[in-house]
Amino acid sequence: MRILLLAHSFNSLVQRIHRELAARSHDLSVEFDIADAVTEEAVSLFRPHLVLAPYLKRAIPESVWSRVPCFIVHPGIPGDRGPSALDWAVQGVRDAWGVTVLQAEAEMDAGPVWASMRFPMRVARKASLYRSEVTEAAVAAVLVAVDRIQAGNFVPQRVAGAAHAPMRQADRAIDWQRMGAAAVLARIHAADGFPGVADMLFGEPCHLFDAWPEATLRGVPGELLARRETAICRATADGAVWIGHVRRSGGIKLPATLAFPESARLPEAPLASWWRQPEPGWQDIAYSEAEGVGFLAFEFYNGAMSTAQCNRLAAAFRWATARPTRVIVLQGGADFWSNGIHLNTIEAADSPSDESWANINAIDDLAEAILRCESQLTVAAVGGNAGAGGCFLARAADFVWVRDGVMLNPHYRNMGNLFGSEFWTYLLPPRVGSDGAAAIMRRRLPMTAPESVALGFYDACLPAPGFSVDVARRAAELANAGDFAGKLQVKGDKRAADEAVKPLAAYRAEELAEMRRNFYGFDPSYHVARYHFVARSPHSWTPRHLARHRDLDWRIPA
Ligand code: COA
Repeated sequence: MRILLLAHSFNSLVQRIHRELAARSHDLSVEFDIADAVTEEAVSLFRPHLVLAPYLKRAIPESVWSRVPCFIVHPGIPGDRGPSALDWAVQGVRDAWGVTVLQAEAEMDAGPVWASMRFPMRVARKASLYRSEVTEAAVAAVLVAVDRIQAGNFVPQRVAGAAHAPMRQADRAIDWQRMGAAAVLARIHAADGFPGVADMLFGEPCHLFDAWPEATLRGVPGELLARRETAICRATADGAVWIGHVRRSGGIKLPATLAFPESARLPEAPLASWWRQPEPGWQDIAYSEAEGVGFLAFEFYNGAMSTAQCNRLAAAFRWATARPTRVIVLQGGADFWSNGIHLNTIEAADSPSDESWANINAIDDLAEAILRCESQLTVAAVGGNAGAGGCFLARAADFVWVRDGVMLNPHYRNMGNLFGSEFWTYLLPPRVGSDGAAAIMRRRLPMTAPESVALGFYDACLPAPGFSVDVARRAAELANAGDFAGKLQVKGDKRAADEAVKPLAAYRAEELAEMRRNFYGFDPSYHVARYHFVARSPHSWTPRHLARHRDLDWRIPA
């Protein structure tokens, strides 16, 4: 079928649906929902059999849904209608939730249902559920719905229901004197990544994000108790929670201690080591060991890695290489493995150019430490999405095992034509060929986990259920295999041979020369793109590599 994807942005859900439909040979184009007239124009240019809206913030105009069948992906169970569907489900602590694909009509979310899927709920942030359970259910429901409309013999049924109101800040408010930690976490989770919970810190209004439970610290409810790295701990009626990120009025989302320098006067509550703490608390880098394997997890909010985070992770990695293990598994975080340098902390710096330079050097130092590791075999276990430099940082490991369902964006140019570093010029061409590498960078399209393995970019795609158990088993097999010493020798020899042909320092210097131009040169594209990215500015046009119907030489197939 010829399917037009209409979306507020090309987010990970839209990307995943795009790749899944492409894999089934549907003819696809994308238009961002910018204005009704633009949508109408896209429909008349592309003449789709179906308009599919996986992520919309506004209604589709009648001029479109009355002419072409339009499927809406609603993050709610059949009968659930209206905005903030997932927010209400998370805050209301439901046992199960779901996704419904329904046909657009005049009344919002009230059209006939073409497919729906359910999933059990988990205590997690809204954005985490969205990127995991909601995405999986949405893909499954969309594929069923598309098959049904293509088959032509399915009669969709209406489901009775009532619309709920949009969730307002009054519904999200936290009463620190009365609410326990679980209720506070549910409120912040329901508003995370957007819009956050409106609150006050240090007497200033702000929005709270990125909440973690705390097991031991206690104090007067509402009082700020401590800081650890970039997070702040606050007492609830029955315990305490950590706040990792905040957005001050008129500002951007930032690590809490960076947004509030006043937090420097709070007592520090440092962790004694990199070892994973047995009790719940804020710990972004956590190390554990089993069967000769070291596991290094790094739970960085949104997968963004600031200069300080890269330096701390490099220190933890070097420490891990001195442990008596044979394999180190780099686990990343649950939702993201890495999205490269931290564009928000760069934006907030006095000199974004200098901070970009410091950040890219820090992530390169980390990549180089992984590449030069001679004492262990390294595995990147990519269980969460990865983008830009994060995809190549993973490739610095000897093996990359990726979870089925993960979305990858191994290219940089969407960020104002960034050249990119993280040794991608060393790591990518041998895997996919020079032409393949150039095509990946130029086309700027996302990749599914199976696509990354088919291309030879990553090594194995493992099933989503039981991913971490599977990774641990495979890593233990590697560590305890009879030929382990031989494998380590081959790795060392390969590195030495590569170094003799062209030193890592030369790749790094060439990439950084390009990056220096991006950061300090006369073309401000990177700074403009970064500003709009961190400000979450709505798109004003659809990039041409997505809106195929706007190619001058595109024609409706005969
Ligand atoms: N720095 C800071 N924040 C980042 C980030 C980065 N490198 N990458 C993603 N984020 C944030 C987004 O701002 C967004 O924040 P929100 O919680 O306020 O909504 C959140 O992570 C999720 O990003 P989003 O774009 O909605 O996720 P996605 O899964 O739909 O898209 C990417 C994934 C990777 C395509 C997209 O996030 C991206 O292009 N990131 C920038 C990558 C980059 O250019 N890095 C720098 C060069 S190494």
